[in-house]
This record gives sequence, C-alpha cells and structure tokens, in this order.
Amino acid sequence: MKTVKTIRDRLIVFDTTLRDGEQSPGASMTQEEKLRIAKVLEKMQVDVIEAGFPAASPGDYEAVNRVATEISDSTVCGLARANAGDVEKAGEALKPARSGRIHTFIATSPIHMKHKLRMQPDEVVEHAVSAVRKARQYTDDVEFSPEDAGRSELDFLCRIIEQVIDAGARTINIPDTVGYTLPSQFGGLISDLIQRIPNSDKVIFSVHCHNDLGLAVANSLSAAMAGARQVECTVNGLGERAGNASLEEIVMAVRTRQDEFDFDTNIDTTQIVPASRLVSNITGFPVQPNKAIVGANAFAHEAGIHQDGVIKARETYEIMSAEAVGWSSNRMVLGKHSGRHAFRERLKELGFEFGSEESLNMAFARFKKMADRKHEIFDEDLQALVTESGNRAENERFSLKYLKTSSETDREPTARVVLQIDDEEVASEVSGNGAVDAAFKAIEAILDTGSTLQLFSVNSITSGTDAQGEVSVRLEREGMIVNGHGSDLDIVIASARAYINAANKLSADSMTHPQMIEGV
Ligand code: KIV
Ligand code: ZN
Repeated sequence: MKTVKTIRDRLIVFDTTLRDGEQSPGASMTQEEKLRIAKVLEKMQVDVIEAGFPAASPGDYEAVNRVATEISDSTVCGLARANAGDVEKAGEALKPARSGRIHTFIATSPIHMKHKLRMQPDEVVEHAVSAVRKARQYTDDVEFSPEDAGRSELDFLCRIIEQVIDAGARTINIPDTVGYTLPSQFGGLISDLIQRIPNSDKVIFSVHCHNDLGLAVANSLSAAMAGARQVECTVNGLGERAGNASLEEIVMAVRTRQDEFDFDTNIDTTQIVPASRLVSNITGFPVQPNKAIVGANAFAHEAGIHQDGVIKARETYEIMSAEAVGWSSNRMVLGKHSGRHAFRERLKELGFEFGSEESLNMAFARFKKMADRKHEIFDEDLQALVTESGNRAENERFSLKYLKTSSETDREPTARVVLQIDDEEVASEVSGNGAVDAAFKAIEAILDTGSTLQLFSVNSITSGTDAQGEVSVRLEREGMIVNGHGSDLDIVIASARAYINAANKLSADSMTHPQMIEGV
C-alpha cells in the first residue's frame, strides 16, 4: 500500500453507512449490528466512522456511545443539528471515544431556509456559529456542513463558512444533499470556496454527495481533484433515496488511477468485499450483480474472447485484481474434517474475530452440522454462518426448535412449528399458500407480532442446488421497521429463522433508526 506522507496527499475516508446509510427506508439496524459493521470499518482502516445521530432516538444515542467505547483506531463521529440540545447529546454520547468528532449541520439553500427552517440567513449563521462553539466545548474535532450546499448561493456559503471556521470548525463538509450538481460544477464549487474564503487554509474541505442522478462518485472525485481532502461515503452506496457515494468505488478509483490522483486513501481494500456482504446481509439490501467492485459479476468473464484474454494475461480485461478487493481466490476452504483451529483461522483471514469462546463454540457447532450435509464449504458459507450466529447471539427470546412443512401437488401446504420462548416450548400447525407462507403463519400464530411483512428475499450464497439460502425478512409494526436474517441449506428453514430473528428485534425494541425529526 502507498505510504501516506502529508495530509495533502491523503484522502480522508469518512464512512456514514451507520448514519446516512441507515436513513434508507428499511435499512434500520440494531446496536449490535451497528457495532459489527463499525468493527469491519475499523479493520478496513476507515479514518472516520459516523456512527449515528444521538439526538434522533435513545437507541441511536446508545449505538453511538457503544461504537465510541469499542472502536479505537478510527475517529468516531456523531451528527447533530445546529442547536445546543443536539450538540450536547452528541458530545455526551462520544465521551468514551479515543478520538471523537461532532458533525453539526444546518441548511443554507434558499429553498431549505425558507420552507424547512423558516429562518432568515442571518439567523442561520448565528445558529451555525453557536453550534460550532458549543461543540468545541466537547472536542477540538468539529465538522460543519451547510446542508444543500449544492443549491446554496456562493456568497452566502463563503460568509457562513468563514464564520464557522473562526468559531472553531476543523472540517468543512460540502453536501450535495439532493444529488443535483454535475461533476465539473461541483469541482468548481470546491475550488471557488477554497479560493474565496480567506481562512480556508485552516480546514480540511470534505464532500458528501448523494446519487439522485447517479453522479455521487463522479462528483466526489471531481471535488477531490479540486482540493477536497475528505470524502463522505457508504458501503454499497447505501443511503437516503438513491444513496450516497459508494466507498468501494471511490477508494478503488483513486487506488487504481494513481497516475491521475496525487493522493491516496489509507484503506485496506481487502476488507471491501467482507464489509459489503455484512452490510447487505444486515440491511437486507441485496447488491446488484453488476455493481462495480462488489457485485457478483464484477470480476466474471462470460464471453469466450474475454476468458481467453484473461487466462493469457489478467490485465487484458481486468483493471484491478479480485483478490485486492477481498474476493477470495481459494474458494473451497473447509470440510467436515476441519477442526476448530482451522475454522477460527480461516474466519480470521476473512476478517471475523470471535468475541468469546462461547460465540466461537456456537458457530463451530453450526459449521459441523453444515459440513455433515454439505460436501464443499466456501468462504461465503462461512461468512453467512458467522453472520447468522451473530444475529442469533443477541439475547433472542424466541428460537426455532422444530419445523416440518409438507408440500404436495393439489394440496394446501402445511407447517408445524415449535418455538422455544424463554423456558417454554410452544407449537402450532397452520396451512398456507406455500411452504414459506405456512411457516410464517404458524410462527405468527404463536408470536402474534401484529406486524406486516414488507420484504421477503431469498439469495443463493453459492452456486449449485446444495447452496445455502440466505433469507431477509422485513417486518413493520406501527412505524418500526426491523430486518431479520437467516441462512440454511433448506430455504424454508432459513426463512423461518429470518422471520424469528425479525420478531426478536421487534420484541427487544433495540432498533436505532431515527424517527422523523425537524430541521433544527
Ligand atoms: O445529505 C446531507 O446533506 C447530509 C448532511 C447531514 C451532511 O446528510
Ligand atoms: Zn446525506
């Protein structure tokens, strides 16, 4: 990896998967899940992890606090609107952080100031300056964002930014909140700001681009070429509406085109695919097969002429190697004779570390069961297995003891389910429109969650009919949305597990997703 020399030849990677990413409808996460993602981001050497929005909900406060406690190699950041209450909450939540940052923002575009904030520009400047001063009482590391900067007036942006720098902001983040700008225009905005603001040399300029026109990565790179030295992005491009700039695309563009960029990031790119899989699994947002870098087809060569070229010299059709971004070359890994040590070591290579002997034992027991039924176990199987064990380790009240379904032509399928609920076993038998439908109805007959099913998706983890099925289930109850996950060689069992995992989350009420919050 290129050694980073000074801050000017370093592009800071600020990941907001846990904050802006979580704002995608349906992508809400539990505190445990946020922590697991934060650990992978830390391992990837992300510089700043925006862990959440502490004032948005007690769950989000807790999540930021836990990430701040457990992450030590990356700076942990909390978002705050430009008001004293939000900044205090962020400051308190971040207290345990080894390196903590408060990110405060207020909208600066005419349309937002008039309709959302109902404030005059002078009031907006006052709010911004006092929020930054307040944040400096908690940490020296304060970031300020003029929200909707992409549609703000240049003179006003220069005025407010100059004043927040004087008030103590150390990073100025320019968001293209609605994904409206074009690359040349956005790059031009960054160079205009750097040139026109008299104290601009005291701060790092950052950018935060949304993908409404599919330009978030292009805009971010154009801004970096114009002098921005921090990019805000998310794994898999997760985020509000069409998403944020994708971390993997920015990082690999910069790394692959070092002939064009005179800076690089610190990212350990081999962690990109494991992070992508984890985020997709936790949120239930699948990665499209042709997605750059992390899509299943990103390194697949179908056309004979391409295959021939790649066999002769990889560079004929590949501009980077699959291994460099974490796709494993040695795909067949373990079998039924593999021991605990080999299991733990292989997972370590894949970026998973067990928090306790108990969690290792649980996952190993499941691995042995799987190895009895499945001849070849791939890296992807192991990743799904540990993710599933992690999902289930979260003090679940309900678990699946037994499931039997029957499907027959011209007969309504039925499912018999036995659930363990605390110390009790409860059974039900129900028919449905299919085996999965019957299983869900049987579970619902016992748990009576009162929720509606918003999403049911099945994904095959590897190829072949003996592949594990990975199922995501999204349930909604009174505005609360939870994602459940399950994997198994039998997709009906995987589906039942996913449903029960979601029901556990509903009952634990441990979600961190921010509710509707007002502008400031
Ligand atoms: O898109 C946006 O403007 C944001 C800000 C809070 C930075 O997410
Ligand atoms: Zn955003």
